[in-house]
Amino acid sequence: MSIQIPRGTQDILPGEIEKWQFIEKKAKEICNRFLYKEIRTPIFEHTELFQRSVGDTTDIVQKEMYTFEDRGGRSLTLRPEGTAAVVRSYAENKMYGQAAQPVKLYYFGPMFRYERPQAGRYRQFIQFGVEAIGSNDPSIDAEVISLAMELYKELGLKKLRLVINSLGDTSSRKAHRDALIHHFKPRIGEFCKDCRQRLETNPLRILDCKKDRDHQLMKSAPSILDYLNDESLQYFEAVKQHLSDMDIEYVVDPTLVRGLDYYNHTAFEIMSEADGFGAITTLCGGGRYNGLVQEVGGPDQPGIGFALSIERLLSALEAEGVELPQEHAVDCYIIALGEKAIDYAVPLLQKLRREGFSAEKDYMGRKMKAQFKAAERIGAKFALIIGEDELESGNAMVKNLTTGDQERVPFDHLPGYLRSEG
Ligand code: HAM
Repeated sequence: MSIQIPRGTQDILPGEIEKWQFIEKKAKEICNRFLYKEIRTPIFEHTELFQRSVGDTTDIVQKEMYTFEDRGGRSLTLRPEGTAAVVRSYAENKMYGQAAQPVKLYYFGPMFRYERPQAGRYRQFIQFGVEAIGSNDPSIDAEVISLAMELYKELGLKKLRLVINSLGDTSSRKAHRDALIHHFKPRIGEFCKDCRQRLETNPLRILDCKKDRDHQLMKSAPSILDYLNDESLQYFEAVKQHLSDMDIEYVVDPTLVRGLDYYNHTAFEIMSEADGFGAITTLCGGGRYNGLVQEVGGPDQPGIGFALSIERLLSALEAEGVELPQEHAVDCYIIALGEKAIDYAVPLLQKLRREGFSAEKDYMGRKMKAQFKAAERIGAKFALIIGEDELESGNAMVKNLTTGDQERVPFDHLPGYLRSEG
């Protein structure tokens, strides 16, 4: 039997990869404008990092991690997300001591979660994410949110919905936690096994349960917004004001809790509202994680960030019918006829490529007509036709494949000609 790709993963083939490259380029360009610098961390980390940061009681840690023991008996995990590793690296490399603060970082790379594969949910997916660490200013929360919105908008998405919430600080969360226990405890027997356990370990997670989503007690559950203390409330108000000042529309959803444990204060998600986008509408998720740096062994520094997957971004583009521009056009295709010209095409191609043109020739021994077809198939702008006559006269016949115009151009002038006419 032939070997097939593992479930929940995908090959990204030529023809498709150009879209990924375009998105990556756009995201990096925006990060440059916002002064976020790229960071690359390992694909695997010590399992403990995710247990401590993402949280022992989350679905990600309990059910979805690719964890293995290496030959030295250490427990390692393929990263299910990027924040934990970035924060680990921030602490380990003492970035809190750098002159430029806050430290603004972005990353691109594969993440791994053992989830049930379906549209928009993969076991390996590519996240683009940013983290701003070291500032407690609400305007950095707004900046991070605006960066994600900017990327989607510049790529052409229109049907977006930004949902925000505040999870408050430690004391607000504690008050809310007690209220949740009080609310669910009398009828916890009606909930799933996971929720019964969550009541003890992390009652906030009950609100995120997929199985018990429709239980009557879910709708009437105490809202975090009623338990925010003055400081948390003020912080949330300031973030909202900054968003409004930048004309970024949002809705507040007090039930937005996020699936990772490290959040406090600002939490947000960006959804697609495009028809036919499918069941999973979240394109991007993020929030503030004051306390996380300390959790992984660094000083008490606050942070905020988001991550989005390219897979879901592409689905949203498709659902809205947005075509990304084809960036890489082929400049020219050399059509060589006769032995001498065929040999001459080799160094000519080298010369054109060195001059910066994307150029191609025939490698299949095709006849002239088939070579023209090949040139058209790859979308070449020009065909350079060379045969015995052309070699003798020192001119190539250049045909513009869009207009059909032909012109003789001396070999030495080809780069200049292609540049001015192309
Ligand atoms: P998250 O909500 O777990 O947050 O994931 C962020 C985004 O990753 C989701 O909104 C979605 O676009 C994408 N995603 C997650 N799982 C999958 C999957 N199985 N297949 C395809 N795409 C997926 C985090 O990962 C946090 N680290 C975000 C963050 C950064 N918070 C602060 N800084």
